Amino acid sequence: MPATATPVVHIDDDRFRVTEWQFAPGAETGWHRHGHDYVIVPLCDGTLSLDLPEGQKAEAKLTQGVPYSRRVGVEHNVINGSNSQPLAFLEVEVVDDATAHRRRDTMVAMMAAFNARDVDGVMACMAQECAFHASAGAEAEGQRHIGRDAVRRATEAVFSAFPQAAWTEGQHVVAGDTGLSSWRFVGQRADGSAVDVRGCDVFAFSGDLIAVKDSYRKARV
Ligand code: NI
Repeated sequence: MPATATPVVHIDDDRFRVTEWQFAPGAETGWHRHGHDYVIVPLCDGTLSLDLPEGQKAEAKLTQGVPYSRRVGVEHNVINGSNSQPLAFLEVEVVDDATAHRRRDTMVAMMAAFNARDVDGVMACMAQECAFHASAGAEAEGQRHIGRDAVRRATEAVFSAFPQAAWTEGQHVVAGDTGLSSWRFVGQRADGSAVDVRGCDVFAFSGDLIAVKDSYRKARV
């Protein structure tokens, strides 16, 4: 068994993972597939041997301090083929933004809860201190429902107003503390009239949960 390269993790947070890989002569990483885009910063000069899929081989020239970047999906075994010189580099991975991922999951769960007419499910996506700004109302913001009880009642009122309702074609984007869910709302009002409009929710996040759900719907005239 060849010696294994030694990983030393310097940073591991929501945004970056920085690992120093130390290769004794003959050491190798073993086969791995990169799950993220990454930058390699050589800590010394030298040459690494690469085993690639389908039996292919390559070399990577290392120049101390001169970085190179690779994209997600690279698959290889990295070997220090030298029998005398240790090698090392820093691997800087841009890990997916874990916070944004969790927030996006909340948005997906929110839309699923609306489609399931699941008020508890909706409330599970809302932060302890929360508000819902409806798509209509006397105020510039639409009718504002502030606090968990008010948000719960307003959600129930949506389900009462639309005995049939489906939020379809959902697309969810997170940028910083803001989320945007766009959708096509297809349903039927209590009087039997149909509704079919595009709209969106602009969310303000508090942690992984929604502090403000600000709804917009097209008015068809
Ligand atoms: Ni690699």
